[in-house]
Amino acid sequence: MYNQPMLKENSLKGKTIIITGGGTGLGKSIGKYCCELGANLIITSRKIDVLQKSADELILETGAQVLAVQCDVRNYEEVENLLKVSIEKFGSVDALLNNAAGNFVMPTERLSAKAFDTVVDIVLKGTYNCSLALGKYWIKNKLPGVMLNIVTTYAFTGSAYVVPSAAAKGGVLALTRSLAAEWGRKNIRVNAIAPGPFPTEGAWSRLFPPIVQKFVDPLKRIPLGRTGEHQELANLAAYLLSDFSSYINGEVIVIDGGEWIHGAGQFTGLENIPDEMWDAWEKMRTR
Ligand code: HXC
Ligand code: NAP
Repeated sequence: MYNQPMLKENSLKGKTIIITGGGTGLGKSIGKYCCELGANLIITSRKIDVLQKSADELILETGAQVLAVQCDVRNYEEVENLLKVSIEKFGSVDALLNNAAGNFVMPTERLSAKAFDTVVDIVLKGTYNCSLALGKYWIKNKLPGVMLNIVTTYAFTGSAYVVPSAAAKGGVLALTRSLAAEWGRKNIRVNAIAPGPFPTEGAWSRLFPPIVQKFVDPLKRIPLGRTGEHQELANLAAYLLSDFSSYINGEVIVIDGGEWIHGAGQFTGLENIPDEMWDAWEKMRTR
């Protein structure tokens, strides 16, 4: 049930949506569902061969119109070009999903300054470049707009060993709330989703390679005992991109099976105490 499409047919009919990093992983899954709901799609990233293959697949599977545009989101001129060719093809753009990211696991003192820059530039600069270009376009043309940013739960908490990503995602969260407050009156909504672990080749190969899996089992950290299904995330994203969420602005929605709250709770570790020990404890309790 939870991995079934949720919205009714044509919920995104006539909408044109740009998805950064839309040729792989979660961006591709969300894009596919948007197409199924009637949207036109522009997917963008650095690797045009990957993008084109995904666009061809999406067209074949859904019958939607999908345009693949090469763009490094770190470069503002390339982002402006992305917007230009999207408008040329579809007449206008209604929504932006800031999903592109770069990340790796490493003790911070081992990182070069360039490694730090690389991740922060893709995640934070890439997001504000796209947000700025789209925001200027919507405001100049008095058009409504919807922005949705993919962050992570460690945007709130920070996290060891992925420090550039945590710093950048925290920045994206602040950007989300700030723009929601500033551009809401221009009829531009800005929200975020903070996913927990959703298996993708891009994330798993970099964040949970076999050497990390020896020390961290993501499933043990999640109260619901499973990772997320792409359709669950796509359902939430499509809702936040659609007009059904018209009164939601400046929000960040966590979808992580309870993972971050579980990690944050002072006494969560007591779940390792067996029932017999609780029986003994109950008998000894102070009144
Ligand atoms: C330390 C590294 C490194 C690593 C690269 N660098 N990989 N340092 N550990 N694993 C350093 C390099 O040595 C170099 O610095 C600098 O970073 C730039 O490296 P390049 O390879 O030239 O960068 P580039 O080709 O632009 O590739 C960017 C990338 C790569 C971020 C390094 O991984 C990438 O393309 N990622 C995109 C997809 C991705 O990361 N997806 C996962 C998102 S998952 P020097 O000084 O040596 O020149 C995610 C989920 C979070 O965010 C939550 C999960 C639960
Ligand atoms: P992914 O498949 O590796 O997606 C990252 C995408 O970003 C790729 O398509 C990549 O394409 C693109 N990209 C990277 N650098 C770029 C640049 N400079 N310009 C344009 N595009 C660029 O990983 P994913 O797991 O689906 O992640 C998608 C989003 O979800 C990310 O924001 C990630 O932080 C977030 N997230 C994922 C998880 C998870 O468990 N998977 C959990 C929390 C949050 P190119 O290489 O072709 O440029």
